[in-house]
Order: sequence, then C-alpha cells, then structure tokens
Amino acid sequence: MHTLTIKALSHNYSVEIEQTLFDNMDFTPFSAIIIDQYLTKARQKIAEKAPTLPIFTYEATESNKSLAMVERILLFLNNHHITKSAHILIVGGGILHDTGGLVASLYMRGIKWSFVPTTLLSMVDACIGGKCAVNIEKRTQSSVTIKNLIGAIYPPYHVFIDPNFTTTLSSAQIYSGLAEVAKSAFLMHRYDGMILNNYVHLYNRMTSNPSQQNECLADLIALSLEVKKFIIERDEFDTNERRYLNFGHTFGHAIESATHYRIEHGLAIAIGMVCAIDFAATHMGIQNNTITTFKQHIKNDILAPFPKLSNYLKAITWETFWNAFNDDKKHDTQFELILPAETGGVDRIHFTKSNEIENNIKDILNDILNSLGSH
Ligand SMILES: NC(=O)c1ccc[n+]([C@@H]2O[C@H](COP(=O)([O-])OP(=O)(O)OC[C@H]3O[C@@H](n4cnc5c(N)ncnc54)[C@H](O)[C@@H]3O)[C@@H](O)[C@H]2O)c1
Repeated sequence: MHTLTIKALSHNYSVEIEQTLFDNMDFTPFSAIIIDQYLTKARQKIAEKAPTLPIFTYEATESNKSLAMVERILLFLNNHHITKSAHILIVGGGILHDTGGLVASLYMRGIKWSFVPTTLLSMVDACIGGKCAVNIEKRTQSSVTIKNLIGAIYPPYHVFIDPNFTTTLSSAQIYSGLAEVAKSAFLMHRYDGMILNNYVHLYNRMTSNPSQQNECLADLIALSLEVKKFIIERDEFDTNERRYLNFGHTFGHAIESATHYRIEHGLAIAIGMVCAIDFAATHMGIQNNTITTFKQHIKNDILAPFPKLSNYLKAITWETFWNAFNDDKKHDTQFELILPAETGGVDRIHFTKSNEIENNIKDILNDILNSLGSH
C-alpha cells in the first residue's frame, strides 16, 4: 500500500493506493454518493452495504460537465435534506471529480467530499490538487466548448485509489493516463534527474511483463502523485509552478475541443506535448537529447498504438483549433505556453500575439496531424 499526505491551506488530506481498497470500504460516514453511470457493479456494492444512502448517477461526458449538471446535483442534495455537516463521496473519473468537487464547494457554501478515482487519468492526476471546474459552451459561428471556465480549488478530504478499477478501462484510456504520468516525469526533470528514468524503467517493465501490469500501475500512480504533490504544495493556487502541470494542455485542450472530445483527454495532451516541443524547437531553438527521446516516446509508444486517432484528427479545422487555442484561460494579453526548458523540465513562457506565431503553430499542427495520420 502507498500512502501520501497532501498539505493544503484549508486542510491536509490523505491518499491511499491499494488493490481491493474499494471492496473493503465503509460507506456509512457518507451522506450521499455521486457516481459515474458506467460503474454499475460499484453502485450495486454501495447499495448493498448502505441501502439508505442517496445515490446520484450520471453519464460522464464533457457536455455533462456543465453548470446544468451542477444545478441538478445541488437540487438532488437538497431534496435528500443533505446538511452543512455532510460528507459526500464521488466515484468516477475526471468528469465526476471536477463536477462533484465543484458541487461540494457550492452546496451551502461548502461541504466535505472524498473521491474514489476510477480511471487511470483521474488516479494519476485529477484526484489531488482540488481543481474542480465545469465547461461552458460558447456559441459563435461554430460552437466552442471552453474547458474548465467555471470552478474552484476545493480539495477533497480523502482519496481512495483502487487500481483494480483500471481492469475495465480500454487501452486508449490506459494510455491516456500514462501520457499524464509521462508529462509529470518530464516536468519533474527540472528538480530531480532520476524521476524520468524511474518512469521509463516502470513503463518498460509494465509493457514487457503483462503479468506485472497491476503492480507497475500502482507504482506509476504513486510516482505521478509524488510529482503533483511536490508541485501543488509549492503553489496550491496556480500562480506559478503549478502551471508547469499544464505542459501540453494549451495545444491539447484545443485539439480536444476541435475533435469534439472524441479522443481521450490524455492522448490529446500527448499530442499537445509534441506540439509544445516542436514550437520550442522551431520558435526558440530549444532542443536536446532528453527532449528528443521524450518526444519519440510519446509519438511511438503512447500515440502510435492508436491509428484510429488519425480519423478524428483529420476532421480538425484550423478555425476551430485556433478559436479554442485563443480561448485558453491561461492566456492574458499575451499567450502563456508551458514549453520544454533547455536545462531540463519545463518553463512558463509568454509571447506577444502575432501573425508569425499563428503561422508557426499552424505549420506545427499540420506536420503533427500529417505524421500521426501516416501511422
Ligand atoms: N481536476 C484536475 O486536476 C484534472 C486533471 C486531469 C483531467 N481532468 C479532467 O478529467 C476529465 C477526463 O477524465 P477521465 O479521462 O478520468 O475520465 P472521464 O470522467 O472523462 O470518463 C471517461 C469514460 O470512462 C468511463 N469510466 C470511468 N471509470 C471507468 C472504469 N473503471 N472502467 C471503464 N470505464 C470507466 C466513463 O463512464 C466515461 O465514459 C476531463 O474533463 C479533464 O478536463 C481534471
């Protein structure tokens, strides 16, 4: 079993990682459950163990990660007479985390919540840090989803990670999670020269020994959360170093939006990291062996196994991509991009908006979409 304690301004909270943790959980401390509709067995288990517990179920889609869903859940809690002293449990992937956590922050100005992440992505990333937000649909000539525009930083009280949930994930969902672990390992290279090596070692061990997959996954989850803990404890409120965690996200979110969320979040971020690496190389001349090897790993090991990606990528139009890229909430009057640093890890760089940058990004996007399309 791995355990971590995360220090936050409001309270410290614990993370436990253990196979079969969910099977042995006691649900009686909770006043209500919010659970992903897909997780029928988990829902059944909760209903058997705590038959009177109100359970709200919904389908985890980006369009349901909305203010309308927040309102529905708030009303559900009110209809079940949930009080200010309540503690609710959210069970699901990143969408449940983000929507459920926001509900907890809003209901009666804030109630306690805990989280059981059930996708690899939510185990390695979303489950700590307390970033909870929903999307908003902006209707111009074409409709654009602005990701995570309305939100709060509102940490959970406990995080219970049971890697057994990963057994029902598709391989695209597993690789989506691995892309975020790769991101964490790469950005941590700035502070610790060993983390990237440890990641590569675990990745190789897992892919060459399928029988060790569960054990390696638990170690990869712990590695990723150690990195995120290090970063969020230095900058909980996202004013400086926490933004390093957005490596690949400005490009990646725009790709997600332009493909109407048909590709897994982590795979979009993986493409986004390749874009960021290419932008740093062409615009700033930043290149070295670590960066090149990392880019090859992302392209060959994380993205290449998914040839179907190219069908969705082909549908991207420059206008939808560029609108979403510009709407990224991290930009101010200038673009803010998280790019690889020559000396290891990543840096926050600001750029004045210009036609030159737009053309450069357009070329990079075309190159990547063509090269992924040819796999
Ligand atoms: N708050 C954060 O720090 C943070 C970090 C990363 C991502 N996110 C957000 O998380 C979202 C993506 O989350 P995600 O990829 O974890 O999943 P998700 O919540 O988007 O779910 C993806 C699909 O997996 C299904 N699913 C959930 N658990 C499953 C299981 N055990 N087996 C099989 N299928 C399962 C869901 O029903 C859904 O169909 C995005 O909205 C992203 O913005 C948030």
